[in-house]
Amino acid sequence: MIMARERVQSAGVFAALSALLTHVELPESAPLILDCGAGTGHYLHQLLDAHPDSRGIALDLSTAGLKRAARHPRALALAWDLWEPLPLLEDSVDLLIDVFAPRNVSEYARVLRPGGTAVVVTPRQGHLAELRETGLLGMQGEKLDQLLSQMAPGFGLPESTQRVVSAIPVETDLVADLVFMGPAGHHREHAELRAHAESGGVSHITVDLDVSLWRG
Ligand SMILES: C[S@@+](CC[C@H](N)C(=O)[O-])C[C@H]1O[C@@H](n2cnc3c(N)ncnc32)[C@H](O)[C@@H]1O
Repeated sequence: MIMARERVQSAGVFAALSALLTHVELPESAPLILDCGAGTGHYLHQLLDAHPDSRGIALDLSTAGLKRAARHPRALALAWDLWEPLPLLEDSVDLLIDVFAPRNVSEYARVLRPGGTAVVVTPRQGHLAELRETGLLGMQGEKLDQLLSQMAPGFGLPESTQRVVSAIPVETDLVADLVFMGPAGHHREHAELRAHAESGGVSHITVDLDVSLWRG
């Protein structure tokens, strides 16, 4: 799963999201970036590269992902359950990101410093719709109003929500990886997914996300 996610990310499927994240403004002096449910740390690494004075912490349950997340010289990777109190002081984080991961809103509000930024990325209904149409994915997107009401007790209303939508040409291997990297890929063989993808004839996929931003 981790390797499939890495291949999908390095193929640039989520490049538009990366561009948006790396343009979020950060304080100049050694900002701390926290990636909750960081996976391989893909976005954290891009943020650390975009902000040479920053330091980052990746939290995830998956140690396989964290081994990769730890590879950046300014990243600390911690195996941590997001539903536990986070191992951070209050008001210590300048930028918190949560991309497709569970959200511990009260802890996020506790650790984000006043004036800091929290960015949550959720899939919309149209996200990877081509894979659902061919039966490769059962996953549904999330409703933005549900996210907003979940975040409201800790953060109030978001400063902005931006939709990221792009059509990406894909080949069979990438289609199989897109399924393999998520829960629908559990207990399935890559070769079987590849055959299913080939018969589905998917030539492009839609990336369709909401990127919502709150100030602490
Ligand atoms: C869909 S993946 C997204 C990974 C990464 N943010 C990305 O976009 O590449 C969701 C991640 O959340 C992590 N996760 C799920 N539940 C978690 C929990 N309770 N505590 C910490 N991490 C969790 C999973 O291990 C997985 O890496």
